[in-house]
Amino acid sequence: MIGGFSPDEYIADPGLAEVGDRRIQYSERSMPLLTALARRFSVERPFDGMAVAACLHVTPETAVLVRLLRAAGARVTLAASNPLSTQDDIAAALAATDGVAVFARAGVDRRTYYEHIALALGADGAQGPDLVIDDGGDLVSTLLAPGGTTPPVTPPHGGTARPPIPPGARPPKFPLGGCEGTTTGVLRLRRMAAEGALAFPMIAASDTPAKRLVDNTHGTGQSVIDGLLRASGVLLAGKTVVVAGFGTCGVGIAECARGLGARVLITEVDPVRALDAVLRGFGVLTLADAAPLGEVFITATGSAEVITGEHMAAMRDGAILANAGHFDVEIDVRGLHDLAVAVHPDVRPHTDAFELPDGRRLLLLAEGRVVNLVAADGHPPEVMDLAFGIEALALAWLAGNAEKLAPDVHPVPPDIDAEAARLVLAALGAEIDSLTAAQRAYLASWRLGS
Ligand SMILES: NC(=O)c1ccc[n+]([C@@H]2O[C@H](COP(=O)([O-])OP(=O)(O)OC[C@H]3O[C@@H](n4cnc5c(N)ncnc54)[C@H](O)[C@@H]3O)[C@@H](O)[C@H]2O)c1
Repeated sequence: MIGGFSPDEYIADPGLAEVGDRRIQYSERSMPLLTALARRFSVERPFDGMAVAACLHVTPETAVLVRLLRAAGARVTLAASNPLSTQDDIAAALAATDGVAVFARAGVDRRTYYEHIALALGADGAQGPDLVIDDGGDLVSTLLAPGGTTPPVTPPHGGTARPPIPPGARPPKFPLGGCEGTTTGVLRLRRMAAEGALAFPMIAASDTPAKRLVDNTHGTGQSVIDGLLRASGVLLAGKTVVVAGFGTCGVGIAECARGLGARVLITEVDPVRALDAVLRGFGVLTLADAAPLGEVFITATGSAEVITGEHMAAMRDGAILANAGHFDVEIDVRGLHDLAVAVHPDVRPHTDAFELPDGRRLLLLAEGRVVNLVAADGHPPEVMDLAFGIEALALAWLAGNAEKLAPDVHPVPPDIDAEAARLVLAALGAEIDSLTAAQRAYLASWRLGS
């Protein structure tokens, strides 16, 4: 029991625990950083006696992180960070085998989603959590949002409904602090801090150099191509693929497509990024010029209306359009509807065909939403290993340092990023050199020249 809750009261089906546990163990084998940290933290116990409230996608990778927190001495309550993304078998396994109070079921409505978050905040007694882990900012905003109370939620298997913490009715003490794992969440936290509403320090774990490299470039690169292939079923070898945006994601997508034999063209608005693309051997041109040449178009700009109706009107029969950017605004989907005389939905799962007046067809994947999350599995466990490893290290650091930090958004200390990368390298059997004393002295001095 945690705060009077039995761990499985708010999950869909406790009977799925065994399947979930097998899937968690499978992912764990590809997560060497979290495995190493769990071993270390089970001795150091940085969260001994602390309550951690987490709001994360309930996936096998999250479960590996939650098990690490438990090994490090924390009591954990978990709510989903998206109403649709909960994997019910994983929720069941965490409740059954780890004693985690899980408030998550796949496919809940918006109201229940927020109620679950409030329950995760209130489940461990009226004091509220000592630390929080958020993914998108919904947990912290539920904790701090002004006004409103949430009605009690009835557990799905019957039983008595418990009153959650009313959002806005502030718990007697705020958490010491927490971590946020997404760019969107960090933006929301910064807005809270600017308005003076953020009452405790939060670490922006979404944007360290190691995470950007592994997540955006390698994780997004591979999984976007995975989503493209699953949805469209095309052979990429020999195809002309146009990547709009050569930022951290675009580089990974372009390199993966090239690795599969595609001829890759880049469109950019930043001359330095465009120069980088040219020097790496990619063709660089405007989207207007690329439109009649491309067979596959992938947007990864973070901007809006990148591929417009005008571009689409110039595209070849069978051209495929996919988006890797966070929001579904990069491809002008409404413009495509306006252009089309007929829409053939689901010609394959996640692929709609738009018929133009002259009989050409353009194929839109995942309705223009982020293709690697809609049509594939998102990031592989290796990527989440680094992202969650950085969060775990940052949270352990915060547990000992929160009182020195202002209630603001703080970067991950750079040595934590380097430590996470070092641990992953060690787990992969790669070793690097260290600077000698003479090298350090040379690099620190401006007096020494040629
Ligand atoms: N799919 C995923 O899993 C995933 C993962 C991480 C980030 N993202 C999202 O992908 C998007 C890009 O992220 P990033 O980290 O690569 O950003 P970034 O800033 O590193 O790169 C974006 C690039 O797009 C270029 N650009 C902007 N407008 C353009 C236009 N109209 N035409 C051509 N190029 C243009 C910019 O100059 C820049 O080089 C963001 O929306 C981000 O949230 C998605």
